[in-house]
Amino acid sequence: MSCKCLPSQSVVPDIYDEYERSLMVSSQYSNPKLGYIVYVILLTCLVFLFFQLANNNGNEKGNFLGSQKLSYYSDQNENSHLTDTGTATPTTFKQSEIKGDEVRQIEVKRNLMFIKTHKCGTSTLVDVFYLKGVRDRLNFVMHPYTHQLNIGAKRPLLPPRPGTVYNMQCQHGTFRPNIEHEIMPKETSLYSTIARSPVSQFKSAFSFFGAEGKMRKKLGPGATIDELIEKYLNSYPPPDDNHVTTSLIINSVANDLGWGTFSNGPELEGSTLQEKIEAFIKHLDSEMDFVMITDRMDESLVLLKEYLGWNITDIMYLNRMVSSKPRVSMSDKTKARILQYQVIDRQIFDHFNESFERHIDKIGREKVKALVKEFQEIRETFENKCFDKDKTVKGPYDSISWEISDYGKNVNVACTFLQTRDVILTKVITELQLSQDYTVAIDGSSNSKKYLLQEIVTKLQRDFANNADPV
Ligand SMILES: *[C@@H]1O[C@H](CO)[C@@H](O)[C@H](O)[C@H]1NC(C)=O
Ligand SMILES: *[C@@H]1O[C@H](CO)[C@@H](O)[C@H](O)[C@H]1NC(C)=O
Repeated sequence: MSCKCLPSQSVVPDIYDEYERSLMVSSQYSNPKLGYIVYVILLTCLVFLFFQLANNNGNEKGNFLGSQKLSYYSDQNENSHLTDTGTATPTTFKQSEIKGDEVRQIEVKRNLMFIKTHKCGTSTLVDVFYLKGVRDRLNFVMHPYTHQLNIGAKRPLLPPRPGTVYNMQCQHGTFRPNIEHEIMPKETSLYSTIARSPVSQFKSAFSFFGAEGKMRKKLGPGATIDELIEKYLNSYPPPDDNHVTTSLIINSVANDLGWGTFSNGPELEGSTLQEKIEAFIKHLDSEMDFVMITDRMDESLVLLKEYLGWNITDIMYLNRMVSSKPRVSMSDKTKARILQYQVIDRQIFDHFNESFERHIDKIGREKVKALVKEFQEIRETFENKCFDKDKTVKGPYDSISWEISDYGKNVNVACTFLQTRDVILTKVITELQLSQDYTVAIDGSSNSKKYLLQEIVTKLQRDFANNADPV
């Protein structure tokens, strides 16, 4: 199947750029003609695809998002040097591994559907995925230039380059399995997400999303963390069969994983809260190939690397923040109160923290232990080379970071890349993916940060190709 109505390669960036801009300034949009052209192009594609789908697969719903994966970009381009990252490479294979007398086989899936959860260490992970993507020239599922991927919103996805398929999704967005399956098939993509112990996750969100500051304003500077949290939780009813709070702070993992839609499904009508939670966890279990645990980050990354057939150098991350605030501990009573409200997230965490053990067994306990040790040593050496750890600088959100070393700036620019926040890297990835050959970031912007990263990307790819990149 092919869709001839796509704008030609050279116009894609402008169209998307303009389209994005039109969304950002929709109220004072000044070029209705262009908006009209975009709409006509999109509509034509939509109609065309609808008929194609109707012809090819009677069961398939011809919705816009689903059809992106199905036909826009699936025509093979024989001349493309990029096909090795796309459909030409088998995306799954069996990896044999001998352990003792036993031969294990694990299924390796090359593509990654990662559902990003809030305050679970995911911005660090997304940087890791973006770095892998830049080096291997992978295609990301994302809306151009934005940080949020709210699938179903009326905006086009950034297309993969011609002749290739989507390799990764890792932007924020609620999990909607039916849509995700169409964009990245389960057979060839590892479905993954990450959960964090519900007390520390709450604490982090409580502070990050401003609730702590608001409560402190009400209670005064002398209030303890226990008092602040109690005051905050008092404004919500405790969960029962008729009501359970889900927000960016309470049960936010459940929220990100699609609890809203799932729990309101017709088949759960009349169920108790506990029945709904159990059904939800069962559903997640069948959707997710592997759920990582923030509290066990290094093990999580090692397991992920095994499932994706990656190297240890593909999972290097940097701790970007020196712990900025002194740790305050809360009482057991407060912890219990948090757990009472985090009724869904608590059970999601417990379930996947337990099944994590089975993943370790599957890869091999001894092997995982050895890999984690090796990884931690390499990673720590890498991090110490990236930063001048005796010099601190101010980071975003009142954090403190270390200064990047000369080595990190000039020798191994992976350091600079990994130290950059994912919201900024998202823009770089968008430009690269729009540039078709994924080598040169498109310029045309006066944003000096972009130029800086453009050089970094070029060097990253060159060093990686020459195997000159130590990590
Ligand atoms: C892992 O490293 C080896 C040796 O450098 C390389 O040949 C291979 O392609 C790498 N695998 C991946 C998935 O990058
Ligand atoms: C997660 O599982 C591990 C291993 O079973 C256990 O040691 C740890 O206490 C669990 N974490 C929490 C927060 O329950």
